[in-house]
Amino acid sequence: MISLKSLISENINLSTKVTDTISFLNKNENKKVLFLTTSTRYPYNTKYDKGGVEIELPKSTELAFYIKNNIKNNSLIMDIPKLNIMSCEGNVSHKDGNTCGVKDSILKSSEKNPSGYHRCWASVNNESDELWRVSKDIFDSDIILFFASIRWGQANAQYQKLIERLTWLENRHNTLGEENILNNKQAGFICIGQNWNGLNVVNIQKKVLKFYGFKTPSQLFWNWQYTENELDESQESYKKAYQKFHTDSKIPTKLKTL
Ligand SMILES: Cc1cc2nc3c(=O)[nH]c(=O)nc-3n(C[C@H](O)[C@H](O)[C@H](O)COP(=O)(O)O)c2cc1C
Repeated sequence: MISLKSLISENINLSTKVTDTISFLNKNENKKVLFLTTSTRYPYNTKYDKGGVEIELPKSTELAFYIKNNIKNNSLIMDIPKLNIMSCEGNVSHKDGNTCGVKDSILKSSEKNPSGYHRCWASVNNESDELWRVSKDIFDSDIILFFASIRWGQANAQYQKLIERLTWLENRHNTLGEENILNNKQAGFICIGQNWNGLNVVNIQKKVLKFYGFKTPSQLFWNWQYTENELDESQESYKKAYQKFHTDSKIPTKLKTL
């Protein structure tokens, strides 16, 4: 049996992972890239001693901006937690079968669904749902890069909600027997953690995005974690992680104080 660990190399340092991703995108500079960030980490640190408020973006979001700013491709960044995305209704397993993404679930709106591909009951049933903003840009892009943080050994909840809500893309070809509308698109998943399970999460998400029908080039799948010691919950390590992330990635620290 192939172990999950053997699928993606752990031994490449962070700055090489970042530069490999940037050069992969630059080699495909005619392709439009969509960056989807999902961490909800609160960006404001109050610095009472300095009398100001420091703005610190989530590391995964900072990474997305850094990569975006260093590629020639036409690109767009979207922060998923800022959108009103409802929970997945889970219509894959009713008594009468799987109704996720069936033709009747088409979102009838030329503004929200210009391609006509968006079929999701939760979008139909919730006027205020904004998943259409994401799907519209997915259909308008060639490469989709997801950024997440690790929480309790999994990708964070906002990423998971998004990927559940997009199940109709996968169902369309795997269950309903229609065409794979993601066939010409590539996807990636990059995640940041502190001490546990990041590599397993990357490997699972690589498989998930492959099930979806995306192409999944290895340059777009990796993680960074402060330590391999899953028992290290020390305050000292959490304090050191910010600087280590920037030293390892060679991304300059950019804090803004209000
Ligand atoms: C609720 C919660 C659970 C977490 N669980 C894990 C975990 O299981 N494994 C891990 O490596 N890090 C865990 N972390 C730490 C974050 O992944 C880590 O701080 C990461 O740097 C955050 O990335 P971000 O700055 O992009 O949000 C957890 C953080 C939170 C808030």
